[in-house]
Amino acid sequence: MVIVKDRKEPVERTTICVINQKGGAGKSTSCFHLSGAFAQLGHNVLVIDADPQGSISQGFFGSAHVESLAPQQTLAALFDEDRYLAGPELLIHRTPVERVWLVPANDSLSVHNCPAPATAGLKQFVLREFVRGLVEFDLVLIDCPPNLYQCSWNGLLAADAVMIPVPPEDFGTQGLRVVHQAITEAQTLNPVLAVLGHLISRYDRRLLVHRTYADKLRQLYGPSVLATVIPEAVAFKMAVTCRQPVTLSHPRSTAAGLTSLLAREILARTEGKSAQRHLGKSAPRHVA
Ligand SMILES: Nc1ncnc2c1ncn2[C@@H]1O[C@H](COP(=O)(O)OP(=O)(O)OP(=O)(O)O)[C@@H](O)[C@H]1O
Ligand SMILES: [Mg+2]
Repeated sequence: MVIVKDRKEPVERTTICVINQKGGAGKSTSCFHLSGAFAQLGHNVLVIDADPQGSISQGFFGSAHVESLAPQQTLAALFDEDRYLAGPELLIHRTPVERVWLVPANDSLSVHNCPAPATAGLKQFVLREFVRGLVEFDLVLIDCPPNLYQCSWNGLLAADAVMIPVPPEDFGTQGLRVVHQAITEAQTLNPVLAVLGHLISRYDRRLLVHRTYADKLRQLYGPSVLATVIPEAVAFKMAVTCRQPVTLSHPRSTAAGLTSLLAREILARTEGKSAQRHLGKSAPRHVA
Protein backbone atom coordinates (compact mmCIF):
# COMPACT_ATOMS: atom_id res chain seq x y z
CA MET A 1 0.00 0.00 0.00
CA VAL A 2 1.44 3.38 -0.99
CA ILE A 3 0.18 5.69 1.68
CA VAL A 4 0.46 9.17 0.23
CA LYS A 5 1.25 9.04 -3.44
CA ASP A 6 2.36 12.66 -3.88
CA ARG A 7 5.04 12.51 -1.17
CA LYS A 8 8.49 11.35 -2.27
CA GLU A 9 10.85 13.50 -0.20
CA PRO A 10 11.01 13.41 3.58
CA VAL A 11 9.02 16.22 5.20
CA GLU A 12 9.73 18.05 8.39
CA ARG A 13 7.66 16.18 10.88
CA THR A 14 6.52 16.83 14.42
CA THR A 15 5.77 13.92 16.69
CA ILE A 16 3.62 14.72 19.70
CA CYS A 17 3.19 12.29 22.56
CA VAL A 18 -0.03 12.78 24.56
CA ILE A 19 0.50 11.46 28.03
CA ASN A 20 -0.86 11.36 31.56
CA GLN A 21 -0.93 8.34 33.80
CA LYS A 22 -4.28 9.58 35.08
CA GLY A 23 -7.08 7.65 33.41
CA GLY A 24 -9.87 9.55 31.68
CA ALA A 25 -7.88 12.79 31.44
CA GLY A 26 -8.85 13.30 27.80
CA LYS A 27 -5.75 11.91 26.06
CA SER A 28 -7.60 9.87 23.43
CA THR A 29 -10.28 12.54 23.02
CA SER A 30 -7.61 15.19 22.37
CA CYS A 31 -5.74 13.02 19.85
CA PHE A 32 -8.89 11.95 18.04
CA HIS A 33 -10.35 15.41 17.52
CA LEU A 34 -7.01 17.15 16.97
CA SER A 35 -6.20 14.69 14.18
CA GLY A 36 -9.20 15.98 12.25
CA ALA A 37 -8.38 19.62 12.94
CA PHE A 38 -4.77 19.18 11.79
CA ALA A 39 -5.96 17.36 8.68
CA GLN A 40 -8.35 20.18 7.86
CA LEU A 41 -5.41 22.56 8.09
CA GLY A 42 -3.76 20.52 5.33
CA HIS A 43 -1.51 18.21 7.32
CA ASN A 44 -1.05 14.51 6.75
CA VAL A 45 -1.57 13.05 10.18
CA LEU A 46 -0.59 9.66 11.57
CA VAL A 47 -2.26 8.72 14.83
CA ILE A 48 -0.47 5.98 16.74
CA ASP A 49 -2.60 4.16 19.27
CA ALA A 50 -0.10 3.17 21.94
CA ASP A 51 -2.80 2.06 24.37
CA PRO A 52 -3.78 -1.63 24.63
CA GLN A 53 -7.30 -0.41 25.42
CA GLY A 54 -7.48 0.65 21.76
CA SER A 55 -9.82 3.55 22.54
CA ILE A 56 -8.81 5.80 19.69
CA SER A 57 -8.72 2.88 17.24
CA GLN A 58 -12.30 2.09 18.21
CA GLY A 59 -13.16 5.74 17.78
CA PHE A 60 -12.16 5.50 14.13
CA PHE A 61 -13.24 1.94 13.31
CA GLY A 62 -15.58 0.61 15.99
CA SER A 63 -14.80 -2.05 18.55
CA ALA A 64 -15.68 -5.17 16.53
CA HIS A 65 -13.25 -4.28 13.74
CA VAL A 66 -10.43 -3.32 16.10
CA GLU A 67 -10.79 -6.45 18.21
CA SER A 68 -10.63 -8.58 15.05
CA LEU A 69 -7.29 -7.14 13.91
CA ALA A 70 -4.37 -9.58 13.96
CA PRO A 71 -1.32 -8.48 15.97
CA GLN A 72 0.68 -7.95 12.77
CA GLN A 73 -1.85 -5.29 11.72
CA THR A 74 -1.40 -3.36 14.96
CA LEU A 75 1.26 -1.57 16.96
CA ALA A 76 2.01 -4.86 18.74
CA ALA A 77 3.91 -5.98 15.63
CA LEU A 78 6.66 -3.44 16.33
CA PHE A 79 7.53 -5.24 19.54
CA ASP A 80 7.72 -8.61 17.82
CA GLU A 81 10.30 -8.91 15.05
CA ASP A 82 8.69 -11.98 13.51
CA ARG A 83 5.41 -10.13 13.10
CA TYR A 84 7.00 -6.99 11.67
CA LEU A 85 8.61 -8.69 8.70
CA ALA A 86 6.13 -7.13 6.28
CA GLY A 87 7.23 -3.60 7.26
CA PRO A 88 5.15 -0.57 8.16
CA GLU A 89 2.50 -0.77 5.45
CA LEU A 90 0.50 -3.53 7.13
CA LEU A 91 0.29 -1.43 10.29
CA ILE A 92 -0.77 1.89 8.82
CA HIS A 93 -4.50 1.98 8.15
CA ARG A 94 -6.32 4.63 6.18
CA THR A 95 -9.14 6.05 8.31
CA PRO A 96 -12.48 7.37 7.02
CA VAL A 97 -11.09 10.86 7.66
CA GLU A 98 -9.22 12.41 4.77
CA ARG A 99 -5.49 12.89 5.50
CA VAL A 100 -5.66 10.87 8.72
CA TRP A 101 -4.05 7.43 9.09
CA LEU A 102 -3.90 5.19 12.11
CA VAL A 103 -1.64 2.56 13.60
CA PRO A 104 -4.25 0.77 15.68
CA ALA A 105 -3.91 -1.18 18.89
CA ASN A 106 -5.91 -3.80 20.65
CA ASP A 107 -5.39 -6.17 23.54
CA SER A 108 -2.49 -7.85 21.72
CA LEU A 109 -0.38 -4.86 22.81
CA SER A 110 -0.90 -5.58 26.53
CA VAL A 111 1.80 -8.23 26.75
CA HIS A 112 4.40 -5.74 25.50
CA ASN A 113 3.43 -2.96 27.93
CA CYS A 114 5.82 -4.04 30.67
CA PRO A 115 6.11 -1.91 33.80
CA ALA A 116 9.93 -1.51 33.82
CA PRO A 117 10.52 0.00 30.39
CA ALA A 118 14.05 1.27 30.96
CA THR A 119 15.30 -2.31 31.41
CA ALA A 120 13.93 -3.43 28.07
CA GLY A 121 17.01 -2.71 25.93
CA LEU A 122 16.27 -1.96 22.30
CA LYS A 123 12.52 -2.46 22.80
CA GLN A 124 12.47 1.07 24.25
CA PHE A 125 13.22 2.49 20.83
CA VAL A 126 10.97 0.51 18.48
CA LEU A 127 8.45 3.34 18.11
CA ARG A 128 11.22 5.87 17.55
CA GLU A 129 12.73 3.74 14.78
CA PHE A 130 9.32 3.25 13.21
CA VAL A 131 8.48 6.97 13.20
CA ARG A 132 11.92 7.91 11.86
CA GLY A 133 11.38 5.67 8.87
CA LEU A 134 8.16 7.41 7.80
CA VAL A 135 8.28 10.11 5.15
CA GLU A 136 4.60 10.64 4.44
CA PHE A 137 3.38 12.50 7.51
CA ASP A 138 3.75 16.05 8.81
CA LEU A 139 2.30 15.25 12.20
CA VAL A 140 2.38 12.13 14.31
CA LEU A 141 0.16 11.96 17.39
CA ILE A 142 0.86 9.22 19.93
CA ASP A 143 -2.02 8.39 22.26
CA CYS A 144 -0.62 6.84 25.45
CA PRO A 145 -2.29 4.57 28.01
CA PRO A 146 -3.01 5.61 31.61
CA ASN A 147 0.33 4.37 32.93
CA LEU A 148 4.01 5.08 32.37
CA TYR A 149 4.96 1.61 31.21
CA GLN A 150 6.66 0.52 28.00
CA CYS A 151 4.11 1.99 25.57
CA SER A 152 4.19 5.47 27.10
CA TRP A 153 7.97 5.25 27.45
CA ASN A 154 8.29 4.36 23.77
CA GLY A 155 6.06 7.36 23.02
CA LEU A 156 8.30 9.71 25.00
CA LEU A 157 11.43 8.40 23.31
CA ALA A 158 9.87 8.76 19.85
CA ALA A 159 8.46 12.26 20.29
CA ASP A 160 9.68 15.81 19.73
CA ALA A 161 7.09 17.23 22.07
CA VAL A 162 4.85 16.04 24.86
CA MET A 163 1.39 17.34 25.73
CA ILE A 164 -0.24 16.57 29.07
CA PRO A 165 -4.05 16.83 29.25
CA VAL A 166 -5.09 17.69 32.80
CA PRO A 167 -8.67 17.89 34.08
CA PRO A 168 -8.61 20.83 36.53
CA GLU A 169 -9.49 19.06 39.75
CA ASP A 170 -7.74 17.18 42.49
CA PHE A 171 -7.96 13.70 40.96
CA GLY A 172 -7.03 15.17 37.59
CA THR A 173 -3.80 16.71 38.80
CA GLN A 174 -2.72 13.79 40.96
CA GLY A 175 0.24 11.95 39.53
CA LEU A 176 1.65 14.88 37.57
CA ARG A 177 4.86 14.66 39.57
CA VAL A 178 5.62 11.19 38.22
CA VAL A 179 4.65 12.24 34.71
CA HIS A 180 7.13 15.11 34.87
CA GLN A 181 9.74 12.77 36.31
CA ALA A 182 9.24 10.34 33.43
CA ILE A 183 9.61 13.21 30.95
CA THR A 184 12.87 14.30 32.58
CA GLU A 185 14.17 10.72 32.46
CA ALA A 186 13.12 10.35 28.83
CA GLN A 187 15.00 13.56 27.96
CA THR A 188 18.27 11.85 28.89
CA LEU A 189 17.69 9.32 26.08
CA ASN A 190 15.75 11.69 23.81
CA PRO A 191 17.30 15.16 24.19
CA VAL A 192 15.03 16.74 21.57
CA LEU A 193 11.93 16.02 23.66
CA ALA A 194 10.30 19.30 24.71
CA VAL A 195 7.27 20.01 26.84
CA LEU A 196 4.67 21.31 24.42
CA GLY A 197 2.38 22.12 27.28
CA HIS A 198 -0.31 21.22 29.75
CA LEU A 199 -3.79 21.16 28.30
CA ILE A 200 -6.66 22.01 30.61
CA SER A 201 -9.20 19.42 29.52
CA ARG A 202 -12.77 18.51 30.45
CA TYR A 203 -13.26 21.98 31.90
CA ASP A 204 -16.62 22.96 33.33
CA ARG A 205 -16.66 26.69 33.98
CA ARG A 206 -19.74 26.36 36.19
CA LEU A 207 -17.64 24.53 38.78
CA LEU A 208 -15.71 26.62 41.26
CA VAL A 209 -13.28 23.76 41.73
CA HIS A 210 -12.46 23.77 38.01
CA ARG A 211 -11.95 27.52 37.92
CA THR A 212 -9.75 27.32 41.01
CA TYR A 213 -7.63 24.45 39.70
CA ALA A 214 -7.29 26.04 36.26
CA ASP A 215 -5.88 29.16 37.93
CA LYS A 216 -3.60 27.03 40.07
CA LEU A 217 -2.24 25.20 37.04
CA ARG A 218 -1.50 28.51 35.32
CA GLN A 219 0.22 29.83 38.45
CA LEU A 220 2.38 26.73 38.75
CA TYR A 221 3.26 26.11 35.13
CA GLY A 222 2.90 29.58 33.62
CA PRO A 223 3.16 29.63 29.82
CA SER A 224 3.46 25.87 29.67
CA VAL A 225 -0.33 25.77 30.11
CA LEU A 226 -1.92 26.13 26.70
CA ALA A 227 -4.17 29.18 26.35
CA THR A 228 -6.92 27.11 24.75
CA VAL A 229 -9.06 25.22 27.23
CA ILE A 230 -11.04 22.16 26.17
CA PRO A 231 -14.45 22.10 27.88
CA GLU A 232 -16.54 19.13 28.85
CA ALA A 233 -18.93 19.07 25.89
CA VAL A 234 -21.37 16.52 24.57
CA ALA A 235 -20.34 17.29 20.98
CA PHE A 236 -17.04 15.46 21.56
CA LYS A 237 -18.90 12.28 22.54
CA MET A 238 -21.44 12.58 19.72
CA ALA A 239 -18.66 13.04 17.19
CA VAL A 240 -17.01 9.81 18.28
CA THR A 241 -20.27 7.91 17.83
CA CYS A 242 -20.23 9.30 14.25
CA ARG A 243 -16.61 8.03 13.94
CA GLN A 244 -15.54 11.53 13.01
CA PRO A 245 -13.52 14.25 14.72
CA VAL A 246 -15.76 17.02 16.00
CA THR A 247 -14.49 19.58 13.49
CA LEU A 248 -15.99 17.41 10.76
CA SER A 249 -19.10 16.05 12.45
CA HIS A 250 -20.18 19.23 14.28
CA PRO A 251 -18.22 21.99 12.57
CA ARG A 252 -20.29 24.82 14.05
CA SER A 253 -20.08 23.67 17.64
CA THR A 254 -18.05 25.43 20.30
CA ALA A 255 -16.17 22.16 20.76
CA ALA A 256 -15.10 22.23 17.10
CA GLY A 257 -14.10 25.89 17.28
CA LEU A 258 -11.94 25.30 20.34
CA THR A 259 -10.38 22.19 18.83
CA SER A 260 -9.36 24.18 15.73
CA LEU A 261 -8.00 26.91 17.97
CA LEU A 262 -6.02 24.35 19.95
CA ALA A 263 -4.62 22.84 16.75
CA ARG A 264 -3.43 26.27 15.63
CA GLU A 265 -1.93 27.02 19.04
CA ILE A 266 -0.05 23.71 18.99
CA LEU A 267 1.27 24.41 15.50
CA ALA A 268 2.37 27.88 16.58
CA ARG A 269 4.26 26.33 19.47
CA THR A 270 5.96 23.70 17.37
CA GLU A 271 6.77 25.82 14.33
CA GLY A 272 9.34 28.53 13.85
CA LYS A 273 10.51 30.95 16.47
CA SER A 274 7.60 30.73 18.84
CA ALA A 275 8.62 27.14 19.50
CA GLN A 276 11.83 28.41 21.07
CA ARG A 277 9.83 30.65 23.39
CA HIS A 278 7.19 28.19 24.47
CA LEU A 279 8.65 24.71 24.34
CA GLY A 280 10.25 23.98 27.67
CA LYS A 281 13.27 21.68 27.60
CA SER A 282 12.86 20.61 31.17
CA ALA A 283 9.78 19.15 32.72
CA PRO A 284 8.04 21.65 34.99
CA ARG A 285 7.51 21.39 38.69
CA HIS A 286 4.61 19.34 39.95
CA VAL A 287 1.41 20.58 41.49
CA ALA A 288 2.15 21.18 45.14
N1 LIG B 1 -13.89 17.36 26.64
C1 LIG B 1 -14.71 16.33 26.86
N2 LIG B 1 -16.06 16.49 26.85
C2 LIG B 1 -16.90 15.46 27.09
N3 LIG B 1 -16.46 14.21 27.34
C3 LIG B 1 -15.14 13.98 27.37
C4 LIG B 1 -14.18 15.02 27.12
N4 LIG B 1 -12.95 14.50 27.22
C5 LIG B 1 -13.11 13.21 27.50
N5 LIG B 1 -14.41 12.89 27.59
C6 LIG B 1 -14.99 11.58 27.89
O1 LIG B 1 -14.34 11.06 29.04
C7 LIG B 1 -14.00 9.71 28.87
C8 LIG B 1 -12.49 9.55 28.98
O2 LIG B 1 -11.88 10.32 27.95
P1 LIG B 1 -10.63 9.79 27.17
O3 LIG B 1 -10.83 8.36 26.76
O4 LIG B 1 -10.29 10.75 26.12
O5 LIG B 1 -9.54 9.85 28.30
P2 LIG B 1 -8.12 9.15 28.33
O6 LIG B 1 -7.21 10.03 29.10
O7 LIG B 1 -7.71 8.79 26.97
O8 LIG B 1 -8.47 7.83 29.14
P3 LIG B 1 -7.51 6.57 29.35
O9 LIG B 1 -6.54 7.00 30.38
O10 LIG B 1 -8.42 5.48 29.83
O11 LIG B 1 -6.87 6.28 28.04
C9 LIG B 1 -14.56 9.31 27.51
O12 LIG B 1 -15.80 8.70 27.71
C10 LIG B 1 -14.70 10.61 26.76
O13 LIG B 1 -15.79 10.58 25.85
MG1 LIG C 1 -7.13 6.95 26.20
